Amino acid sequence: MDRIKITGGQQLNGTIAISGAKNAALPLMIASLLTSDTLTLKNVPNLADVGQLGRILRNHGTDFTIAGKRPGKSPMQGETFHLTSRDIWDTTAPYEMVSKMRASFWVLGPLLGREHKARVSLPGGCAIGTRPVDLHLEGLKKLGAKIELEDGYVIARTPRGGLKGGKITFPLISVGATHNCLLAAVLARGETLIENAAAEPEIGDVARCLVKMGAKIEGIDTHTLKIQGVTQLEGAVHTVLPDRIEAGTYAMAVAATGGDVFLEGADPTHLQSALDLMVEAGVTIKIKKGGIQVTRGKEALKPVQVETQPFPGFPTDLQAQFMAMMLLVKGTSTVRETIFENRFMHVAELMRMGADISQSGDTAQITGVDELHGAQVMATDLRASASLVIGGLVAKGDTIVNRVYHLDRGFERIEEKLSACGAIIERLSE
Ligand code: UD1
Repeated sequence: MDRIKITGGQQLNGTIAISGAKNAALPLMIASLLTSDTLTLKNVPNLADVGQLGRILRNHGTDFTIAGKRPGKSPMQGETFHLTSRDIWDTTAPYEMVSKMRASFWVLGPLLGREHKARVSLPGGCAIGTRPVDLHLEGLKKLGAKIELEDGYVIARTPRGGLKGGKITFPLISVGATHNCLLAAVLARGETLIENAAAEPEIGDVARCLVKMGAKIEGIDTHTLKIQGVTQLEGAVHTVLPDRIEAGTYAMAVAATGGDVFLEGADPTHLQSALDLMVEAGVTIKIKKGGIQVTRGKEALKPVQVETQPFPGFPTDLQAQFMAMMLLVKGTSTVRETIFENRFMHVAELMRMGADISQSGDTAQITGVDELHGAQVMATDLRASASLVIGGLVAKGDTIVNRVYHLDRGFERIEEKLSACGAIIERLSE
């Protein structure tokens, strides 16, 4: 099992090219189930989750090729995927596949839309809370789906003639439930209204791609989506938007270590709440053509308070990295996690490095220490792993991050990108 070794104490300086967003690439790949034509996706990040979803789609009948794959290609270009789901020959998404990655549960909506039936295992994914799927199922029921749960599987069917437009009002904002219902509604008969929809930029990206495929969607990037169902969708070419979580992670790494890094391709409009908070803490952020410049000199950062919220609020996916950024900041910073109930698993690992963090319920208080020391730590989930890397970058001595496969699910070549900016970081493969 791969590990990452970091020798802390180096500043970061240079340019980091931001990859395509994992959380957009996955639902975009799933959208290819909606058409028998070819969907071409550009700027797809080379990540373990993308490969896993490719295997799941192949199982449904999607023919999936990677164009011009060659070593040494610029990361800014990402990969170009051609996905063709001419015939769906299997509407079952088995446990062995879905349990490895939660987003694969989102095949349910498009399979119902196109094939009128689906059998999809209840999902797995990061261990950051119970993460139910009740909102997905209630939403699909509003479109006429008949749903039963049997032996850990969701067995779903539509009435004769397929899904019917309806009104879905989510009681709380869910990214996944919005994707699943949007991907179902585009092929439903008549109009669907989704109220209290998630407005994360990745949902807007998927909606824009669906419009290129022939879908009729109003209200993109808002909390109310109005969809007029169409009978069929066509192929399209779409470029995956840049990964705001990757960009935010590197911005926080620079804030922690000091230095000056240009985040090439990062879109500041997708990261406003995080950038505002970093400025409040004393980091210099400059929005430039084609990216974001993050600078921190010798000046000390100030403690700040943060609460995670759905977009445009501060993203839960940057909470762990933010905590790592504040570990050496004099005074007490506070983090309140309002999205997931069990997303503090990095706390115990950061404390192994000498961090002073006290946690009570959904709130953690970080009191800055004079120094952190390198330690053996364990990655527990995808974003938590990134916080351990940031901790390692500022700790004295060597840090070994175990269970790097979590990191590989969502960060493309993290050790290469950081070492190009001066970090002493290497992958230890066994
Ligand atoms: C997605 C993202 C993940 C991010 C999260 C919140 C992807 C692949 N994953 O996850 O990186 O951390 O959004 O921004 O895009 N909930 C229910 N019932 C449901 C569905 C969700 O109660 O049916 C709850 C969850 O337990 C959680 C909250 O709603 O407390 C938000 O979850 P959701 O937005 O659905 O997260 P994911 O789509 O799983």
